[in-house]
Amino acid sequence: CWIELKRISTLFYQTKKISIMIIEPRTRGFICLTSHPTGCEQNVINQIAHITSKGKIDGAKKVLVLGASTGFGLASRITSAFGSEAATIGVFFDKQPTVGRPGSPGYYNTAAFEKHAHAAGLYAKSVNGDAFSNEIKDQVVQLIKEDLGQIDLVIYSLASPVRTHPNTGKRFKSVLKPIGEVFTNKTVDFHTGAVSEISINPAEGDDIENTVTVMGGEDWKMWMDALQAENLLSEGAITVAYSYIGPDVTRPVYRNGTIGAAKDHLEATAFAITDDLKSIGGKAYVSVNKALVTQASSAIPVIPLYISLLYKIMKAKGIHEGCIEQMQRLFSQRLFGGDLALDEKGRIRVDDWEMRADVQAEIAELWKKATSENLPEIGDLQGYSDEFFSLFGFKVLGVDYDADVNEVVVIPSEQ
Ligand code: NAI
Ligand code: NA
Repeated sequence: CWIELKRISTLFYQTKKISIMIIEPRTRGFICLTSHPTGCEQNVINQIAHITSKGKIDGAKKVLVLGASTGFGLASRITSAFGSEAATIGVFFDKQPTVGRPGSPGYYNTAAFEKHAHAAGLYAKSVNGDAFSNEIKDQVVQLIKEDLGQIDLVIYSLASPVRTHPNTGKRFKSVLKPIGEVFTNKTVDFHTGAVSEISINPAEGDDIENTVTVMGGEDWKMWMDALQAENLLSEGAITVAYSYIGPDVTRPVYRNGTIGAAKDHLEATAFAITDDLKSIGGKAYVSVNKALVTQASSAIPVIPLYISLLYKIMKAKGIHEGCIEQMQRLFSQRLFGGDLALDEKGRIRVDDWEMRADVQAEIAELWKKATSENLPEIGDLQGYSDEFFSLFGFKVLGVDYDADVNEVVVIPSEQ
């Protein structure tokens, strides 16, 4: 009967070209098929409030964010806009909503971000399309020429399982596999809480090369080349891409696996780009960030169990951070705080609290003990699950999920 009512009201509003519905989470495996515009907006509002509460950052004024709609990229955009009053251009690949079909969370996040940025008098425009393509690069180059002239900071925060190479049209798929031998360890299904053992077969064939092609540094360099060729980078411009290292327990499948090979390539590319930027005194950096619940990390086996233990321990020690806290610290203390505190490989480290010896020692202990029975107690399974749903705008505090909502939201600059 509720379904009937909903259908009738949807039909009624469809005739008026607007739609009103109640949206609930629908999950399949580690993805959620629906998302909630009001919840996504509330997440953006909360992130803006965090940045505003921390005070001004003397940072870049014209910022291009690639992968700007969720996770670290969205947090970087919010930090730039609301911490440094920066004009921002955001690039992402998201599903626009249609009547009866919610868009992807990044679409709603960006609609909310632009709305609040514009209300604060800030320039914010967005480009929704495949950042790996020549077409989208051309479109962004054109937009910068018309609106901003030059860019001071380029954030590279793309996370994608596939890439169509712009020169050949060939489509590459990345895989999450160990290299050399089978990796067996514990993992958790964070929807059911079931802890089990999982075995992952090692990379074969072109797995490593393909993963490096998708998640390595080639596209980052292509972006920087395209911008520099048109003189769109200001004197002393910087660019930052995000990487991850993590603990011993995930090393075979993450840092020493196929994705780690891509991160090695990304990190090496920073030096190549810095070389290219010599004439304008520019620099390319990689920032190693903390493990966080995002759409990308939920897909990696073993990582959800690690994150649920990590969250529990870091919350207990009062050093837990989400994407926005990480980016606030990266921008205010490292990038624009006068002390990059680079490691021996020239990387910025905001995973420093995650990697603290006391934190890692406790995780190693708990890792051995973790079972389906004790994980709700020794790990932050609830926190993991809540944060996963919150990525899609669900289970966000203060949102009335029984209220009807118009799912057909439009990003202001795309209108
Ligand atoms: P995410 O999945 O939240 O964000 C990915 C962004 O890339 C989204 O805005 C999406 O729309 C965009 N995107 C994907 N494919 C695209 C395409 N073809 N064209 C245009 N835009 C596209 O990912 P997350 O977790 O924020 O990851 C960003 C970076 O941070 C990645 O390099 C990841 O490896 C790194 N990182 C992630 C950590 C984590 O625990 N989540 C930890 C440390 C680093
Ligand atoms: Na991102």
